[in-house]
Amino acid sequence: MVRSAIQRQTRQTGAVPPASLDMPTFRELARLVDESCGIVMTDAKRVLLETRLRRRLAAVGVDDFRAYLAFLRAPAGRAAELQAFTDCVVTNETSFFREPPHFDYLTPDELRRLAEGGRERALRIWSAASSSGQEAYSLAMIADDASGGGALFPWSVTATDISVRMLTAVREAVYDAEATRSVPARLHQRYLMPADGGAARRLTVRPELRRNVRLGRINLMHAEYRPGQVMDVIFCRNVLIYFQPELQITVIGKLLRHLRPGGLLFLGHAESIRSHDLPLRLIRSNIYERTE
Ligand SMILES: C[S@@+](CC[C@H](N)C(=O)[O-])C[C@H]1O[C@@H](n2cnc3c(N)ncnc32)[C@H](O)[C@@H]1O
Repeated sequence: MVRSAIQRQTRQTGAVPPASLDMPTFRELARLVDESCGIVMTDAKRVLLETRLRRRLAAVGVDDFRAYLAFLRAPAGRAAELQAFTDCVVTNETSFFREPPHFDYLTPDELRRLAEGGRERALRIWSAASSSGQEAYSLAMIADDASGGGALFPWSVTATDISVRMLTAVREAVYDAEATRSVPARLHQRYLMPADGGAARRLTVRPELRRNVRLGRINLMHAEYRPGQVMDVIFCRNVLIYFQPELQITVIGKLLRHLRPGGLLFLGHAESIRSHDLPLRLIRSNIYERTE
């Protein structure tokens, strides 16, 4: 019945109806999402995945999702397509100074204290699922401001994500002016500038700030990864929420290998960890201190 309606429509308009994602194929693709990024997709996400992956069918030259799945399962297809697949399925919503209480907590005095507590006497911050960079640049602004432009203590922010597409956006660091409205006025004035020769509809981050922001691709699911430094502060916000609870604890345990004792871990507002035996002390809503 549905098929004949589609055939009738195709005959009448000449247009080929878009491929649809059936439930068995969806479940197998969802398993691949889980394996590659740890993200759980319930059956309710079928239409979302269908919409996000549709353009990949044309990109790899197949007509339907079954063929796309077969392509992804073949070793050569997987090697060629897995990154683009991952880039399509992740949720990248973010904003400057998102969840303001976390930034309120990181006063200049607190940042100075954190810098002094580390062996290097420098402030090392990691945005561990940085999306397009708004979190990392918000942190860079407060670090640079508190350090008097690096005169009081050196600082760096490491921005990592699983998505190469997002890391490209971090590198470009160009944002709609509208999206920068949550940046406090003084920091906005000091660290952002027009990206397009004065029209000011799109803004970019000043080079002196970008110089201290390092980028890297890290999949938090991997057993081993190297953010490059022992951190004083780790932001891992609004990514654990997509993982199974047991995986969340494993991921946090691995993050802690890169946080010094006394360093701070920030999780997203919906990501508090309940029962665990990690060396963490809750000091404020979703702000934890590594105890040992
Ligand atoms: C909703 S955004 C959160 C961005 C930012 N932390 C914030 O709170 O605004 C989630 C980010 O996590 C990234 N992500 C998803 N799975 C990941 C994984 N296994 N490892 C690293 N990053 C991952 C996505 O690419 C996406 O950019």
